[in-house]
Amino acid sequence: MPRTIIVSNRLPLRAELHENGYQFKASEGGLATGLGSIYREGDNVWLGWPGKEFKDNQEQKQVRKELAKANMAPVFLNQDDLDGYYLGFSNQTLWPAFHYFVQYITYNEEQWEAYVRVNQKFADAILELADPNCRIWIHDYQLMLVPKMLRDKMPEASIGYFQHIPFPSYEVFRMLPWRKELLEGVLGSDFLGFHTYDDMRHFLSCVHRLTDYEYRSNTISVNGRHVEADALPMGIDYAKYAEQARDPETLAIVDKYRKAIGNQRVILSVDRLDYSKGIPDRLTAFRKFLEQNPAYHGKVSLILIVVPSRHRVPSYGRLKDDVDELVGKINGYFSDMNWQPIHYFYRSFSLPELSAFYVMSDVAMITPIRDGMNLVCKEYIASRTQRDGVLILSEMAGSAKELSESILVNPNDQKTLTQSIGQALELSKEEMGRRMAIMQETLQNYNIFHWVNFFTENLDRVKAEQAKMH
Ligand code: UDP
Ligand code: G6P
Repeated sequence: MPRTIIVSNRLPLRAELHENGYQFKASEGGLATGLGSIYREGDNVWLGWPGKEFKDNQEQKQVRKELAKANMAPVFLNQDDLDGYYLGFSNQTLWPAFHYFVQYITYNEEQWEAYVRVNQKFADAILELADPNCRIWIHDYQLMLVPKMLRDKMPEASIGYFQHIPFPSYEVFRMLPWRKELLEGVLGSDFLGFHTYDDMRHFLSCVHRLTDYEYRSNTISVNGRHVEADALPMGIDYAKYAEQARDPETLAIVDKYRKAIGNQRVILSVDRLDYSKGIPDRLTAFRKFLEQNPAYHGKVSLILIVVPSRHRVPSYGRLKDDVDELVGKINGYFSDMNWQPIHYFYRSFSLPELSAFYVMSDVAMITPIRDGMNLVCKEYIASRTQRDGVLILSEMAGSAKELSESILVNPNDQKTLTQSIGQALELSKEEMGRRMAIMQETLQNYNIFHWVNFFTENLDRVKAEQAKMH
């Protein structure tokens, strides 16, 4: 297997401050698990931002040394980089545009310049590590310019790019003043992966309208170089979630939580605090459900887990206020001495705790306004080892394409969203089992390891075909 360099904005780790400085623990995120079999091998490496600003030279040296032990390497970013590139262009221009929140897009030349500068920092760091025969796999929208920056220096390199968020339709993408540079940037790759067929079609349509490159089916000829795009939905480590759900540690947490909230039915909601996740609409639907169904008062609670995210971006800060207010109003209006309709947590949980929530929830309500994939709903399905439980899922999540046995809803349709809660709570055991069996089989087959193999095999195949053409 060729030497592989994985690159993403954020390294998959948690930094812990000890007496002698920082120590880094690999995190258990989906991508990290899937790519574990690659980046931990031999002299392969995962390159990215270590999640904090390290100013001091000595400190940077120590961080580099610590990370090397886990086959990782840092790209250090200063506060200006983070403001302009991460909080700025990545999350105030690309994120809203690609999730169709055009009202939140900022068009700021300085932030664009910071994005170019930081993409160049990443490219330079890769070039220091790369050799002509290695495979370079770049992840996500924060690094769209990196493939071309590498291609210009290493014309023969094997470069893959995977986009973890949606690729928008031409009508939205064309709004960006830097649309051509972004397309040229990712077209520096040899193989490009998207979660869904629609994302891939949108990308190809943008290539068709904004560049002179010829394309046929999913193949583009970039200055004579054969480049391919494909749809490859990312999966999860199914066995890990299924095993965690049976683990005594998880079951002890379930017992503890059950004692605290009683034996009522539980609906679960888990997301980062992000306007693309549809949290206020979900809360409004739950309020309407309670208004229309007094028989359920005292019999069902919503566990609302909101993980803090990008709080320095203004639209995220405002959303926090909206969610706090909605939860306060619903609890204030409906609670009694024995029952609280919403249990609200504004923090993240460890895997055993999250698993306990998956295990104890009769329904998971995952209704983003737009989501590239959404792994939480897949983790819920994998955790339902008794084949019961119901998933209410937004049609606008990439995962809806694979999970058509869920209750699919349009998250903007309040009436259907409200009705879906009653429908989920009243679904028969047989029907739950039938639906779960189909979805579990799909997720078991198309797991994260399958996804990683599929991507790398395709990248290697495209490189081999390019070589034959010359
Ligand atoms: N997650 C977690 N702790 C929490 C809540 C969520 O580790 O308290 C994880 C969850 O298991 C999932 C990821 O965060 O793997 C969220 O991924 P998803 O694709 O659903 O959404 P994203 O945040 O990437 O938009
Ligand atoms: C999404 C994006 C990732 C990003 C993650 C967390 O899943 O596709 O690229 O890392 O959200 O966001 P953050 O801004 O905290 O890295």
